[in-house]
Amino acid sequence: MAELVERDDSVVAGLLAKLKNPDTPLPAKYRILFSLRGIAGPAAHAAMLEGLKDPSALFRHEVAYCLGQRQDPAAVATLKQILKDDAEHPMVRHEAGEALGAIGTEECLVTVREHVQDPCQEVAHTCQLALQRIEYFKAAEAAHQAAAAADPNATESRYYSVDPTPAAPASTPLPQLRQSLLNEGEAIFERYRAMFALRNRGGSEAVEALGASFAAQSALLKHEVAYVLGQMQDAHAVATLKTVLEDERENPMVRHEAAEALGAIADTQCIELLRKYASHAEPIVADSCIVALDMLDFEQSGSFSYADTGAAAGGEAAAVQPAAA
Ligand SMILES: [Fe+2]
Ligand SMILES: [Fe+2]
Repeated sequence: MAELVERDDSVVAGLLAKLKNPDTPLPAKYRILFSLRGIAGPAAHAAMLEGLKDPSALFRHEVAYCLGQRQDPAAVATLKQILKDDAEHPMVRHEAGEALGAIGTEECLVTVREHVQDPCQEVAHTCQLALQRIEYFKAAEAAHQAAAAADPNATESRYYSVDPTPAAPASTPLPQLRQSLLNEGEAIFERYRAMFALRNRGGSEAVEALGASFAAQSALLKHEVAYVLGQMQDAHAVATLKTVLEDERENPMVRHEAAEALGAIADTQCIELLRKYASHAEPIVADSCIVALDMLDFEQSGSFSYADTGAAAGGEAAAVQPAAA
């Protein structure tokens, strides 16, 4: 992820005040959150925790995601609480589990292990992945360093995100990645690895393979595929993502990522569709479209910064690109 920047506590206090103001619209809160995520120190961290009190489940899931991306062990206690809370929205619990996997301390390992059989399937799958991620990096630390030297794709990508699994080796032939991703009999961890390798590969053939996986059974897999298609910002994915957003039988978590991916790709032909679904009865879908329209606006504007950097100090952006979960 991007380096954290230093900001005066007064800037953070200003952002927090806006965040807590019930009149602040959701897209503005997103911009504030992305700024906070990039600011170092306990004040920004505490301000993000305030965001977890927001009435929007979509916003709370985004806060949990951002806490994971910061990889700050100070967030572990709060993330544990969210994961254990059956009354919390599954999407928020999912992000909490994933964030614990990203932070990866021993305490995180113990917690995600407790939820690998969670009655909520998305949460259970997330914790299985998180557990494997932690074990993968723990057990293979030395080997991983060596592998990274030979294959940079194994540890890093040009995308500024901490991924829930490592990518499959960059040398894996594309048809093999495609087959792994689409194979319902394959372990979800391996399918995720193939997905991230396809993202890193890029190009229309990779986009096509990723798009084909929307026929998969796992909502978790599909939501992550939609997310990576947004990261790729490849217009070849637009038609498929539109179909996903429009599918009333699809899990809202998947439709949410499809909407935000469309916002990130910022093809103007999506505006009408996003506007239509911005008043959908399912708040996760509607709110995602509202945020997506703002992202699309940002991409179209050619502005330097998506984040709200705090009016008092201005200065350069802490987080330049929107990279929602
Ligand atoms: Fe998300
Ligand atoms: Fe997610």
